[in-house]
Amino acid sequence: MSSSQYQLHGNVAVITLNNPPVNGLGHELRSGIVAGIDQAAADANVKAVVLIGSARAFSGGADIREFNTPKALAEPNLNTVIRIVEASPKPVIAAIGGVCMGGGLELALGCHFRVAAPGAQIALPEVKLGILPGAGGTQRLPRVIGVERALNMIVSGAAVSSEQFKGTALFDEMVEGDLLQGALAFAQKVIAENRPAQRVRDLKIDYPNAEAFFQFARNTVGAVAKNFPAPLKCVDAVAAAVARPFEEGLRLEREFFTYLVQTPESKALRHAFFGERAAAKIPDVPEDTPTRKIEKVGVIGAGTMGGGITMNFLNAGLPVALLEMKQEALDRGVATIRKNYENSLKKGKLTREQLDSRMALLKPTLSYDDLKDADLIIEAVFEEMGVKESVFKKLDEIAKPGAILASNTSTLDVNKIAAFTQRPQDVVGMHFFSPANVMKLLEVVRGAKTAKDVLATVMQVAKKIKKTAVVSGVCDGFIGNRMIEHYGRMAGFLVEEGATPWQVDRALEKWGMAMGPFRMGDLAGNDIGWAIRKRRYVEKPEVKYSRIADVLCEMGRFGQKTGAGWYLYEAGSRDAIPDPKVEELIASYRKEKGITPRKISDSEIVERCIYALVNEGARILEEGIAQRASDIDMVYLAGYGFPLHRGGPMLYADTVGLYNVARAVKRFAAESGDRFWEPAPLLAKLAAEGKTFN
Ligand code: 3HC
Ligand code: NAI
Repeated sequence: MSSSQYQLHGNVAVITLNNPPVNGLGHELRSGIVAGIDQAAADANVKAVVLIGSARAFSGGADIREFNTPKALAEPNLNTVIRIVEASPKPVIAAIGGVCMGGGLELALGCHFRVAAPGAQIALPEVKLGILPGAGGTQRLPRVIGVERALNMIVSGAAVSSEQFKGTALFDEMVEGDLLQGALAFAQKVIAENRPAQRVRDLKIDYPNAEAFFQFARNTVGAVAKNFPAPLKCVDAVAAAVARPFEEGLRLEREFFTYLVQTPESKALRHAFFGERAAAKIPDVPEDTPTRKIEKVGVIGAGTMGGGITMNFLNAGLPVALLEMKQEALDRGVATIRKNYENSLKKGKLTREQLDSRMALLKPTLSYDDLKDADLIIEAVFEEMGVKESVFKKLDEIAKPGAILASNTSTLDVNKIAAFTQRPQDVVGMHFFSPANVMKLLEVVRGAKTAKDVLATVMQVAKKIKKTAVVSGVCDGFIGNRMIEHYGRMAGFLVEEGATPWQVDRALEKWGMAMGPFRMGDLAGNDIGWAIRKRRYVEKPEVKYSRIADVLCEMGRFGQKTGAGWYLYEAGSRDAIPDPKVEELIASYRKEKGITPRKISDSEIVERCIYALVNEGARILEEGIAQRASDIDMVYLAGYGFPLHRGGPMLYADTVGLYNVARAVKRFAAESGDRFWEPAPLLAKLAAEGKTFN
């Protein structure tokens, strides 16, 4: 079916945008709109034109998939379409319902009149994609809703409900009931009253003291925009709307748009937008796979993870039975949940009623009887196979048929766990990240026998509890932790060879990581990594580690929780203070090993740590543990504080160029003799072919 339709309703022509799902203004749709306007102009019986979309969307804006392709600029481009609409000899009325965003709003602003359904979502969200409105939005919106309000919308990208614009020139009328009928009735008024076509471009902006305001805006926006160039360009473009003639402002906006759309920051943000949506899709699990009903949840273990996991479901309005072995542990877990909610209450993020209703959904229990009717049961008990075995055997006895049995294990084999039951098809990994009520990432671990409808259901549940879910195959550490281990190993070697922990942290934080590896270790508890390494020394003796971290742990320096780790912590503070004792410890370790320290540059630190992620990521991709490169990027953006403006480790490698990454990796292999640095076959292959991961 064509992406737009033209129909006559008496003397009114109706052009319906029909490019599901959100009426992205791709080339075909743009051409259809122009054809409709031309047809209406040529028909003497037509006295007005209505532009309308679907119930879901007037239009979600320019088709982002066309960016940086010839189609984006192919005539009629969006600016041309808007010019033609604006110049139409017959009045054009935009009938706005659902989503009206970006280019969609710009198109509406090019119409002579606008009517809207209440609840329509109005936004110029381009800044979230690292660009700015490029089809007149920065010039026209201030003319209808005022400079300050428009600037706020453009810089934040936030959506505002249509009824909030009552009394502004954005909408001529609000339509209750059927939108098309309302728009047609409005059109008859325009015709009967012979209302002159209003062109937003002709409206004058009267804004005294504009320069002072924009200087203030630049300071404020510049301070928060940090790694992103778009927000400041938004300010400059709106400033031009005030200071310059309309056409000049439009030209400047276009210039900014053309520049921004090519920036790596914009590419990264668009990658994240599509990557998040792609991650929800599983190639061999069709989107129409029937899902299981999840109305009641069980959680086993009320420790660090179990409590946070429980909160996710309570927040989403689902009742949870939380099971522990002993009353004391149960009470402690429930008290922590309550305390977290009380803190949100104090910060004004939650009302007392919300707190009460969430706590009322919680059923703490010591008895498996309370899990019998749960549709989804998530285990978060100690990380020991024996304990997991007893829990899953018990679940197999008591859980109702069809209940999904999930494990939050971070390192154990989900296939083995599934094999403790007679229903491995119902078993899946749901790997939350700490703190589980806050962190966005959820790795959904697909066992060899996990049923497709179980996966489809868990992905749906993830959406409900507002997580970014990424599917991982079964392997040690899954996607995220398997990669981070090598990043941490490299950080350890860098210290062994001459860097200080604070230099390593600072270099990576300056590059954009939310937290360097040593501060991260202190936060998570160095004892966790220590336990993993002890296991590795036995299971994988060929993998090399710096032993400085072990010496630190032998001294009981586990991090923030013991007041000292790589850094020192004053009581009650999370501020990491570099500790001369740690420098002494490192110096004596080097002496003992006969290592002469050398000066290490920040760029070497970044290359070795980040390329370690990339090289292991390539292996994970090749083994099919991750379904696609962007899934790996989503894991790192949502779970590991990887800088958004770089788009994730795999996109970053693409940006640097895989040829360059592979060369550096080979050099590290030659210098270190560490087998890890042999380029992953996929990396070597793509580099040789001049291709990219994404
Ligand atoms: N172009 C192309 N595809 C788009 C799109 C767009 N502008 N907006 C959404 N889509 C696609 C999504 O990728 C997704 O595809 P999939 O089903 O294949 O995964 C599908 O539409 C549905 O999207 P969501 O899952 O996000 O659906 P929701 O109902 O949750 O949200 C939405 C709808 C609010 C429109 C949200 O998709 C969104 O925020 N989209 C981006 C809007 C935007 O940034 N517009 C500005 C574009 S840039 C522009 O207009 C430039 C101009 O100024 C020149
Ligand atoms: P924890 O030690 O804080 O909590 C475990 C809880 O389980 C304790 O309260 C304990 O009393 C209870 N428990 C133990 N055996 C039980 C049984 N048989 N029946 C009922 N309750 C039992 O541990 P944590 O950190 O919450 O870890 C739980 C699981 O989550 C582990 O598998 C761990 O690997 C995983 N995980 C931990 C992360 C973390 O950062 N702590 C992150 C992601 C996963």
